[in-house]
Amino acid sequence: MYQERVLSGMRPTGRLHLGHYHGVLKNWVGLQAEFPCLFFVADWHALTTDYDEPGKIENAAWDMIIDWLAAGVDPNRATLFIQSRVPEHAELFLLMSMMAPLGWLERVPTYKDQQEKLSHKDLSTYGFLGYPLLQAADILIYRADRVPVGEDQVPHIEFTREVARRFNHLYGREPGFEEKAREAIKKLGSKRARLYEELRTRFQQDGDHGALEQGRALLNDNQSLSMGDRERLFGFLEGSSKMILVEPGALLTEASRMPGLDGQKMSKSYNNTISLREDADAITKKIRTMQTDPQRVRRNDAGDPDKCPVWQFHVIYSDEGVRDWVQKGCRSAGIGCIECKQPVIDAVLREQEPMRERAQTYLDDPTLVRDIIADGCEKARKLAQETMRDVRESMGLDYG
Ligand code: TRP
Ligand code: SF4
Repeated sequence: MYQERVLSGMRPTGRLHLGHYHGVLKNWVGLQAEFPCLFFVADWHALTTDYDEPGKIENAAWDMIIDWLAAGVDPNRATLFIQSRVPEHAELFLLMSMMAPLGWLERVPTYKDQQEKLSHKDLSTYGFLGYPLLQAADILIYRADRVPVGEDQVPHIEFTREVARRFNHLYGREPGFEEKAREAIKKLGSKRARLYEELRTRFQQDGDHGALEQGRALLNDNQSLSMGDRERLFGFLEGSSKMILVEPGALLTEASRMPGLDGQKMSKSYNNTISLREDADAITKKIRTMQTDPQRVRRNDAGDPDKCPVWQFHVIYSDEGVRDWVQKGCRSAGIGCIECKQPVIDAVLREQEPMRERAQTYLDDPTLVRDIIADGCEKARKLAQETMRDVRESMGLDYG
């Protein structure tokens, strides 16, 4: 059966924290068990905003990769690589820039938002405007079906889909397309071929989207088709021509409920984080001194967990029994705040123990990480090159 491919990227921000773990990495670890996954360091993306601080990228990338591995991202299941080591991304970005309408880029919400938010930087650059197109290239070059992202990135996925459609429309014509599609249908076997024809008619004549979905599923379940025939039949089903670039779907990652030590969103810029593989004493101290319900001044004042960031940690880390103990104990002043924090400290330390162990292996022998990445880059490059062969050919650049 055809397996949907998952791809996601992260800017090299250096050491990651619990917000990244609960918001993104745990999700990646789950996905790698189900799908072929590609995860990459978006180092060119970092330069679109931080082009004036190139010196920090490399270390930030290695630190981040070690955190991925520490969190349980498994290089035997997922392909890990660095964007700039697969220069084909840049080639696709360039070629798509020929036909990507400027208006589409100017309308991407992050364009104006980020320019306002990062007003201390000059972001009136060509690279910054083109950033969503670079992201589209990252995704389309692997023909990724699913892209796990946070809510802020959903418009970028939608933009990617539009670019793919426009591309297929402009360049998806191959000589003799219909005959080739008819030949490919025969290869489905007579029963499936009949069903395919029927679903195609139902979609194209009656606009039946259920039939389109069924048709796609039929193609996805068929393992014997070549890549080329598969694309033709997808295109023929929809009534377009050959589908060269595949429209991805977003895989919306639930927003992390991980609050920072002060109850705001956990973020480096708020200085309220607990890092992955932070030392145990530092974690204990941070949680011991973290804010509680401000109304609970003295030990025998009753408190309200809803007004306390510690409670948010219990929601993530504690079972029902402990949560019950907190609710009752806090509201009746039956427990003290230090006492209340202890199960959280224990749980965070327990969660980090295997991470620290895994990280240590890689810190002791950095060549392991280099090898994982070298291997991942090579695999990613092969996939990217396959797509680029089709892209070049469709754009008249096949000097064979
Ligand atoms: N733009 C994403 C971010 O800032 C990172 C990213 C770059 C990405 N390319 C991608 C995410 C491709 C998913 C797919 O978080
Ligand atoms: Fe917060 Fe727990 Fe103290 Fe209540 S007892 S205020 S929930 S730390």
